[in-house]
Amino acid sequence: MSLDAAPTPPEELRNTMVDQLIAWGSLHIPRVEAAMRGVPRHLFVPDVAVEAAYAHDGVITHPGADGRPRSMASAPGIVAQMLEQLDVQPGHRVLEIGAGTGYNAALLAHLVGPDGHVTTIDIDGDVVDAARSGLAAAGYGSVHVICGDGEYGYPGHAPYDRIIVTAGAWDVPPAWSDQLTMDGRIVVPLRVRGLTRSVALERGNGFWRSRSMIYCGFIPMRGAGYCPESTVRLRDDIEVFLRLDDRQSVDPEALGGALKHPACHTWLGVNATESELGHFEFWLATMDGFCRLLARGDAIEGMLVEPMYRWGSMAVFDLDTFAYLTMREAPRGDDGTRIFELGVCAYGPQGEQLADRVTEQIRRWDRHGRSLTNTWIEVHPAGTATDVAGHLVAEKRHTRIIIRTAPAS
Ligand SMILES: C[S@@+](CC[C@H](N)C(=O)[O-])C[C@H]1O[C@@H](n2cnc3c(N)ncnc32)[C@H](O)[C@@H]1O
Repeated sequence: MSLDAAPTPPEELRNTMVDQLIAWGSLHIPRVEAAMRGVPRHLFVPDVAVEAAYAHDGVITHPGADGRPRSMASAPGIVAQMLEQLDVQPGHRVLEIGAGTGYNAALLAHLVGPDGHVTTIDIDGDVVDAARSGLAAAGYGSVHVICGDGEYGYPGHAPYDRIIVTAGAWDVPPAWSDQLTMDGRIVVPLRVRGLTRSVALERGNGFWRSRSMIYCGFIPMRGAGYCPESTVRLRDDIEVFLRLDDRQSVDPEALGGALKHPACHTWLGVNATESELGHFEFWLATMDGFCRLLARGDAIEGMLVEPMYRWGSMAVFDLDTFAYLTMREAPRGDDGTRIFELGVCAYGPQGEQLADRVTEQIRRWDRHGRSLTNTWIEVHPAGTATDVAGHLVAEKRHTRIIIRTAPAS
């Protein structure tokens, strides 16, 4: 007789996953909860153990040639949050860009019900085949799965009440607004200066305005809308890089010498909570040369003053010099909130000057920016919107994106 315990039924694992999402504050809306309890996620990731399907991680289904995933099922927490942002109603017509496994399309089909319609599109034929199989196995064969580049939407089934993009976008192409109803909503993980947020966009007066935004990370969209970030390796022998977005120009040779200079590091006596760091990133990103420092194990242990996070830090470069942020734990707040003191570390011939500029920006945030917790994104047609002083502005292919901040209302 086997002593092995009987495997936990998928339904029980699924309900535990949903219960945890609710407990952690990632899921609030009963209709989204019902969809997540109803759709058998494990049928969309048939090559992994059922337990892995209901864990809180993404599941890679198609590794890419460069070692990064080409397709995956997103983590349940971000799936739930984006569906809540989307506000899908019964009877809606929905377009999803990034079919992946088909799991999110099945959730959408559950939410729109028998009177609605879901189209999902993926750029890769093998991913499309897998999505179709998963949807058929789970009983959602009515979802239309199309192979194509989501940059152009899918005019065949437009207009849509909702568009959801589940790959990282760098811009909002015209096809999406052309194919959306006037009071429609787009939810898209949008990258500005390397910072990605899932934004729910609605039409304002001639532009898009975000209704909500949440932290996220996504596989970048490929195809016509692809805009790679550029990466500069700072030393050959250790893994330390600068990653630059929004087509900033850089001289890798000049930056390559920066680490030969000694670190110029100071603690600022300026503290921030984890939630303040979210809008602080946008404040810092208004600086010319904003980028990210990526550093792996040996670089952090062996030579760099420790960056903020395990992946690295927010940073700023200027020609041959770069500076990045550091932080250390400060005494907790009265309610137990974690608090961090910020620091700046610079390398390069102009290290002290750049560190001073970044320090000044942080001190301005401390004095004036900290209270600007109301942050929103506007997406204007390229070349329009001029009242941008003091705000973060990113020129994209089709649009001018502005990130504005104001005191909480
Ligand atoms: C994170 S996965 C999507 C997850 C999916 N929604 C699910 O429920 O499993 C991102 C997907 O976007 C697809 N993709 C990337 N660029 C695309 C493009 N330009 N048009 C359509 N799909 C694209 C990838 O092939 C990948 O399958």
